[in-house]
Amino acid sequence: MATQGTLDFISHSARQTGQFGAQLGSLLAPGDLILLDGSVGAGKTTMAQGIARGLGISEPVISPSFTIVREYAGRLPLYHIDLYRLAPGSALESIGIEDYLYGDGAVVIEWPDRADALLPADHLQVRLHVTGDTQRSIRLMSTGDQSSRLIEEFRRQALGN
Ligand SMILES: Nc1ncnc2c1ncn2[C@@H]1O[C@H](COP(=O)(O)OP(=O)(O)OP(=O)(O)O)[C@@H](O)[C@H]1O
Ligand SMILES: [Mg+2]
Repeated sequence: MATQGTLDFISHSARQTGQFGAQLGSLLAPGDLILLDGSVGAGKTTMAQGIARGLGISEPVISPSFTIVREYAGRLPLYHIDLYRLAPGSALESIGIEDYLYGDGAVVIEWPDRADALLPADHLQVRLHVTGDTQRSIRLMSTGDQSSRLIEEFRRQALGN
């Protein structure tokens, strides 16, 4: 629904971005897909770390740049994927991305533009922009029923309306 499609907020610290992530993580269900967009240092991994915490994952979440996919065991499995180093046009099938996308866990992808064509249409897009030394604007956008539900629940829990 259009009115539930977008949610904007401002983060004033890395810690706050992590807390937003944790709120989001607490809401995730199997098959949920979150795409994290933003320039280098915008806070994508910081948000992913919060999401992991919200899923009850205590293991430290590190940037998976060289391994592409890292799996963490929480309330659900979390697959943290970073496509930054994937060469344009290279075979994503080789990392078995479908197994993660249609598996038993939730998936978070940094630099998802490297894989656009292969990603399910219904996903939650998170766009981070650097607006100051410690300030980030964060926009959540849904693209289908499943991601709209996430935004709706996030709004209810995090913002109290
Ligand atoms: N409000 C904020 N939210 C998130 N990170 C912040 C904020 N303010 C400052 N920072 C800092 O910005 C950096 C964000 O780094 P992070 O690794 O999360 O970015 P990234 O988007 O994953 O970058 P990359 O493209 O290299 O993977 C951290 O050093 C963090 O401490
Ligand atoms: Mg990162």
